[in-house]
Amino acid sequence: MCGIVAAIGIPNAVGVVLDGLASLEYRGYDSAGVAWPENGALRIVRAAGRVSELKSKVETCDTTTPETAMGHTRWATHGPPLERNAHPHVSADGRISVVHNGIIDNYATLKERLTKKGVSFKSDTDTEIVANLVAEQFTGDLLQAVEATLPLLDGTYALVVMSPQCPDMLIVARKSSPLAIGLGDGFTLAASDAVPLIPHTRKVVFLEDGQVAALTAGRCEVRRDGQAVPCIPAEITWSAEAAMKNGYPHYMLKEIHEQPVTLEAMFRNRLRLPRTDDADPEFMLDGLENLSDDYFRGVSRIVLLAQGTAYHACMVGRNLLERTTHIPAYPEYAADFRYRDPILDPSVLVIAVTQSGETMDTLHAVRLAREAGCNVLAVVNVVGSSIAREADGVFYLNCGPEIGVASTKAFTAMIAGLYFLALRLGQVRGTINRQELLRRARDLLGVGARLNGILASDPYIRAIANRYRNAANFLFLGRGTGWPLALEGALKLKEVSYIHAEGYDAAEMKHGPIALVDENMPVLFIALQGRRYDKIIGNIQEVRARKGKIIAIASHDDREIDKLADDVIYIRADSGIMNSICCAVPLQLLAYHIATARGCDVDKPKNLAKSVTVE
Ligand code: G6P
Repeated sequence: MCGIVAAIGIPNAVGVVLDGLASLEYRGYDSAGVAWPENGALRIVRAAGRVSELKSKVETCDTTTPETAMGHTRWATHGPPLERNAHPHVSADGRISVVHNGIIDNYATLKERLTKKGVSFKSDTDTEIVANLVAEQFTGDLLQAVEATLPLLDGTYALVVMSPQCPDMLIVARKSSPLAIGLGDGFTLAASDAVPLIPHTRKVVFLEDGQVAALTAGRCEVRRDGQAVPCIPAEITWSAEAAMKNGYPHYMLKEIHEQPVTLEAMFRNRLRLPRTDDADPEFMLDGLENLSDDYFRGVSRIVLLAQGTAYHACMVGRNLLERTTHIPAYPEYAADFRYRDPILDPSVLVIAVTQSGETMDTLHAVRLAREAGCNVLAVVNVVGSSIAREADGVFYLNCGPEIGVASTKAFTAMIAGLYFLALRLGQVRGTINRQELLRRARDLLGVGARLNGILASDPYIRAIANRYRNAANFLFLGRGTGWPLALEGALKLKEVSYIHAEGYDAAEMKHGPIALVDENMPVLFIALQGRRYDKIIGNIQEVRARKGKIIAIASHDDREIDKLADDVIYIRADSGIMNSICCAVPLQLLAYHIATARGCDVDKPKNLAKSVTVE
């Protein structure tokens, strides 16, 4: 989604903003622009396409002097991705410029009113209306003009407002779309997330909904409803290097290979095994102080809310939670949940699962659940994100920034995080015995190391990928927790390679997808040994009888499957539910290698955004 970067009081402010925009590219965008004050007016440069194209245009300008600048990467909503729709937008009188992430719902009414007043518009965007509304209010005090404008806006926004008449000040505001402010020695930055701030400062203030801030060099004054509120910066501990590629050709590959480390880091200081088997393991949860053991004992139902890959993690999580806590659990798409008048009461525990913590539908579903009196526990990666802050308890995934648009390390971390919570809840409710608890806690602690073995087969998976690079379609089938894995495998492949891929519960195969099977259809089966193995073998036979090409992910000691499948990826999978984490890795690698073999831009697939902050 759109990305914002702004700087004040810093030498080469335009360069700082452009570099910041480049580091936000992972959010997804289709045009970009930058503005700075110049000789009492505004200088605006915009380009359709990549930040690199914007940079080449800016190179023709003299940008050595300005210490104030703001920029934007736009993911088109109102109007096509053309230069005239790219931000920053300027008021018709040229006094106010705005960059904006979000959607102004009542823009048509506002535009009509302004048009009647004689204002002419140059773009199709909702943002240009905001610039004109601020200009209407502006009599010299920029903060006051913005504060007078915000109540007129319905919808969502993170805004930066600049005026050449106040070159030493930027005004920022937030409602539902994220905005982080970085405080440095004599300079201040703002951005849609902390990544562009890290190279300059680690002191970050996450603006809250309804807050407005006046940024000057090295200072930030935060206000709500016209009153000053304290502004206490958090210390960001992510290294700048962690947000870079670390020698890998793509963020996606780097993030796939990071999974053993991220999973180990998740449980460090959180899960302690006893010295002997006559005591329970200890689960330490530092973000759940508001939710007591008594509360967990009284939970009647669990609703898991998410979108995209996170939803697939919730489907796996449902099995873990039901088995270990005996509480019925239901994964739900947050977007559907929020508009369905769901039946809720305070005994329902809502778990919101999200990498970014900013997905608009998940955020609104969280608010709805809280209004209905439910406690919301967030399973989130991005520290300080909106959902993390609004939830009653937070379990942080701690897997560092995930930059590749296709989620990989966050997916396995979500499954592991939900497993951790399931075990803790089972322990509190007495629904899992000590022996079982110990066995599963050991599985959790060991899963990272098991992934190393699977990652070692990367060259082998790459060779398989090369054989299927020209496929036009792909089917992914699995049963039990293999079903959400099949959905995730298909999602990964279509996201990054643009091959049409579908995931199904293998039991559904005879109800439709089998009609598509012929010698041109590759079918990937998740075929690990276990309760449903014989049924999966039956499905494999059916595909084989119709000449489909079969790829199987199978248990390392399966001696039969290579007689049935064209290609087999063996994994050491011997600890039940943890197998879903192990299966995710070959699926991710397969999608990655097929996509790169086809020459696709895996880190920034077309039309996709890392963080979907609009509906
Ligand atoms: C987008 C991303 C996906 C992600 C989904 C949910 O579609 O491209 O990778 O799974 O949003 O995002 P969240 O941040 O809530 O996990």
